[in-house]
Amino acid sequence: MKKFIDNLPKIELHLHIEGTLEPEMLFDLAQRNHIQLPYQSIQEVRDAYHFTNLQSFLDIYYQGANVLQTEQDFYDLMWAYLEKVSSQNVRHAEIFFDPQTHTHRGIPFEVFLNGLVRAKEGARQKLGISSELILCFLRHLSPEDALKTLDQARPFREKIFGVGLDSSEMGRPPSLFKEVFDRARDQGYRVVAHAGEEGPAEYVWEAVELLDVKRIDHGVRSIDDPKLIEYLVEKQIPLTVCPLSNIKLCVFEDMTHHNIKQLLDLGVCVTINSDDPAYFGGYMNENFYATQVGLNLSKADLYKISRNAIQAAFLNGDRKQALNAELDAYYRDQESGN
Ligand code: ADE
Ligand code: ZN
Repeated sequence: MKKFIDNLPKIELHLHIEGTLEPEMLFDLAQRNHIQLPYQSIQEVRDAYHFTNLQSFLDIYYQGANVLQTEQDFYDLMWAYLEKVSSQNVRHAEIFFDPQTHTHRGIPFEVFLNGLVRAKEGARQKLGISSELILCFLRHLSPEDALKTLDQARPFREKIFGVGLDSSEMGRPPSLFKEVFDRARDQGYRVVAHAGEEGPAEYVWEAVELLDVKRIDHGVRSIDDPKLIEYLVEKQIPLTVCPLSNIKLCVFEDMTHHNIKQLLDLGVCVTINSDDPAYFGGYMNENFYATQVGLNLSKADLYKISRNAIQAAFLNGDRKQALNAELDAYYRDQESGN
């Protein structure tokens, strides 16, 4: 099964680039930029990665991002991620970045954007992996700050594919951000939002009804509302589920209690993704392995999950067809024992 997963063509739709900052790179960049870290060793960093909920993770995650200072730092971060997942047979990735985490520290928009774009273009040419950027508004900050961030992104409109909403969920309903999402849609951005990770199914309703998102990030709490599940199935609104993240942040007790298989069997368009792999113990393949083992997923389940990801991706029809053909050929060969 491990080999089946390793070679399975995959698409990643839920990945925060700041969440790919491995402890080794954290130390390298801290040294390069003369930044003092509150850790003495890489082991000490890893030991600090024990989280009790989303907020306990975010506090450490935003602190880690402080070492990212120059265009080269953002290039190195993005390149390392794309090189890693390209070796895991990821064909396409839709990647979140959090402008406010950087602009609030005085890093100009063009510094991180240019670094990310340069790496993404290089990876397409040299590794054959395609990717798109999704700008996320930080939900713990004000809707006014999100509007300001959308304005700052204007000169880079052609380089940013979509917008999303992330960070602390409880007490920060999607409805707060209706205006900025309306404006983003008017400007032609594709829109997604984190909802129903820790927060209630009601927030998923708000994301689809008020923000008009076509894809929900996480969304696992939708299970609490049968009407919502019916709606997600009928409209085929995908959920970008992140199994290892959900375990690390105590959304589920352990992988045997995760609800992705239940959602899949109900007909929800679920996908598997890594969220913040440097913090949660694994990239795409590790998420697939852990989920397969925990829930005893079949090859047919894994194939369906990969097919869902192609359906859920913001790709044009030709590229989707090509990826479906590649995935189908792989699965057919595996089924026939070749
Ligand atoms: N930012 C990075 N990872 C996140 C997550 N899992 N939920 C909300 N915001 C995030
Ligand atoms: Zn996320």
